[in-house]
Amino acid sequence: MGANDAWLIRSAKTGDGADLASLVPDPDRRAWRLRNADEARETLLVAELDSHVIGAVSIRWNGGCDAPNPWIYGGEVLPNQRRKGIGTSLWQEAHRLCRNRGARATSLDVDVTNAGARRLYERLGYVVVGPHEHRWVGRDSETAAVIAQGTADTWLMRCALPAEDD
Ligand SMILES: CC(C)(COP(=O)(O)OP(=O)(O)OC[C@H]1O[C@@H](n2cnc3c(N)ncnc32)[C@H](O)[C@@H]1OP(=O)(O)O)[C@@H](O)C(=O)NCCC(=O)NCCS
Repeated sequence: MGANDAWLIRSAKTGDGADLASLVPDPDRRAWRLRNADEARETLLVAELDSHVIGAVSIRWNGGCDAPNPWIYGGEVLPNQRRKGIGTSLWQEAHRLCRNRGARATSLDVDVTNAGARRLYERLGYVVVGPHEHRWVGRDSETAAVIAQGTADTWLMRCALPAEDD
């Protein structure tokens, strides 16, 4: 897993739930991401600093919105830790894992209003493929019934991942 002088990038583990609450406040969404990682449908990467989780991003291995590419979503760094390179480290580690699994590209979407994140993605090598409609659902934590849903206008972005020997 990636590391530098200050923070460590690693897979989420049991016990990260409390720290993740600051990054993924919705308890159902948090539980869903942890469960998907636990059951290997996804990888949930976290950034750890001084024994606390300060950033996270998820990789969905199958069934993303731009198959067959792994789908990277839910990137978030605590507000007081932003613009230090932690987001970049999370994505670099995500790309390394994707390359190791043989992916030749990764995909994500970004709200059309989120110019800052789009700038970061472009610096990482992403290019806009076209407009995308992001569908979201909110579920009741007890029954899993859909209690809210909606759409957001996003850009679909893709990043080529050259193999090491390309
Ligand atoms: C996007 C995010 C994960 C980046 O994490 P980070 O640790 O700050 O990322 P880095 O330090 O590696 O890179 C910072 C770069 O992100 C970009 N950026 C992201 N959000 C920005 C903002 N609100 N304002 C300005 N720049 C922003 C800039 O290009 C910045 O580079 P710069 O400092 O050279 O201008 C973080 O800003 C965040 O959690 N934002 C809120 C959640 C979000 O928008 N997630 C993305 C959903 S698609």
